[in-house]
Amino acid sequence: MVIQKICCLGAGYVGGPTCSVIALKCPNIKVTVCDKSEERIKQWNSDKLPIYEPGLDDVVRECRGKNLFFSTNIAESIREADLIFISVNTPTKTIGNGKGRAADLKYIESAARMIADLATSNKIVVEKSTVPVKAAEIIMKILRANTKPGVEYQILSNPEFLAEGTAIVDLVEAERVLIGGEDTPEGQKAVQELCWVYEHWIPAKNILTTNTWSSELSKLAANAFLAQRISSINSLSAVCEATGADVSEVARAVGRDSRIGPKFLEASIGFGGSCFQKDILNLIYLCECLNLPEVAAYWQQVVSLNDYQKTRFTRKVIEALFNTVSDKKIAILGFSFKKNTGDTRESPAIYVCSTLLDEGAKLHIYDPKVEHDQIYYELTNPYVTSEPEKVRKNITIHDSAYSAISGAHAIILCTEWDEFRSLDFKKIYNNMMKPAYLFDGRKILDHDMLINIGFHVQTIGKRLSRTNSIRAQGSQTMP
Ligand code: NAD
Ligand code: UDX
Repeated sequence: MVIQKICCLGAGYVGGPTCSVIALKCPNIKVTVCDKSEERIKQWNSDKLPIYEPGLDDVVRECRGKNLFFSTNIAESIREADLIFISVNTPTKTIGNGKGRAADLKYIESAARMIADLATSNKIVVEKSTVPVKAAEIIMKILRANTKPGVEYQILSNPEFLAEGTAIVDLVEAERVLIGGEDTPEGQKAVQELCWVYEHWIPAKNILTTNTWSSELSKLAANAFLAQRISSINSLSAVCEATGADVSEVARAVGRDSRIGPKFLEASIGFGGSCFQKDILNLIYLCECLNLPEVAAYWQQVVSLNDYQKTRFTRKVIEALFNTVSDKKIAILGFSFKKNTGDTRESPAIYVCSTLLDEGAKLHIYDPKVEHDQIYYELTNPYVTSEPEKVRKNITIHDSAYSAISGAHAIILCTEWDEFRSLDFKKIYNNMMKPAYLFDGRKILDHDMLINIGFHVQTIGKRLSRTNSIRAQGSQTMP
């Protein structure tokens, strides 16, 4: 079989960009991205796409209506497809067995049941969502228990490694594509068919094939390793603050060892995003189920350290503001979990904001890409507060950093958006309450310059002293 038609179930942060790039690179394949949410599909078919991702608009504009379609007609798309990607969400379970750790596979199961109900010809079903090891077995059981006469399925694992904010480049120039399949002639044939799709633009040496379970576990492992590096450097940031070492210098020295490498060593207020915490918790649950408590405890520490980092940062903010933020105006710069995305899932800014709101602060929030409603949604969520109306009254959302900061006691930089580096901090200082505080949770600003303007500055992994900064500038006088 040569793949002519692809269907993708789930038009989210993964399904949308991944299938748009497949359509771009494989003009002879018809790609239909489906979602059960009519609203989401409407947005994909409009000028304002449901997600912000640099470069995505151009790709969609080039392919939509030619060989790329967004549709709620799931039945037709499944029927006509040779290959079906399952890219639905796999959030952490919030109730029942494994609550708070296990991945909730209800959307995977419903996708598999839809395929079983609707398919009338052979299909290659590809697990693109991140799932626990052996999830393909669940899909296989559902499909094979409901097979119509003459219909055969092959299940592949093809986890996605894109990061938000760089998704298009990550997809177009993928360092590796991983495909796992059954070790049978039919399974290997299906693997080769999916390889053929990627070979339209990915060099064959970058396409790794393996068995299904290794592929599923590799995805959890990759995210666990990446998050572990961040927790490692964040743990050292606490040591730096206590000793006078500088975490950026430590990262620079450690990262020069080619065995370690320089990437993913940025100390921060903690990692966020929809993947790291969820996938490590998923791995921890898997280890517990496999009766491997020591392994589970090892990975649990990566998540615990991340919680500690968020708490530690927020506690330092409150302590610096004379241990009370009640009724103080505080400006929050950045709400997304990293720059170049409007995604707020598990953003560390949520923890910082909700803690300050609990302490009675008035927050003035600015983010270049997060929708206002999304900020309200995150901060009034029942998991975050029992007093949504009170919270709503204490938040103001702004369309510029300057208006958010005007009259504030303190600025907290939560996301490393580039535009924050070039703000006019002299002007900002003049419009703030004094003493004016600035907490740089991403280590991106010029701290000496800020101290010289008159700010009281704190950052991650480095003790800043007004005296040292003035000396560094060659001044003889104390401020
Ligand atoms: P998402 O929430 O943005 O999108 C999932 C979409 O699936 C939703 O729009 C939902 O309505 C839809 N859906 C659910 N059940 C459906 C069904 N039966 N039929 C049709 N549509 C259905 O999620 P996401 O961020 O795109 O993540 C999807 C998967 O990819 C997850 O397993 C995630 O862990 C993994 N992943 C995410 C990223 C990332 O950066 N976001 C990166 C790699 C892997
Ligand atoms: C991650 C993985 O990188 C990607 O391969 C996988 O497919 C999905 O999960 P994503 O969550 O989109 O991608 O972004 P990523 O760049 O990994 O950042 C995650 C979080 O870690 C962000 O909050 C980011 O600010 C933080 N981070 C990242 C740090 O705090 N320090 C770093 O050095 C790197």
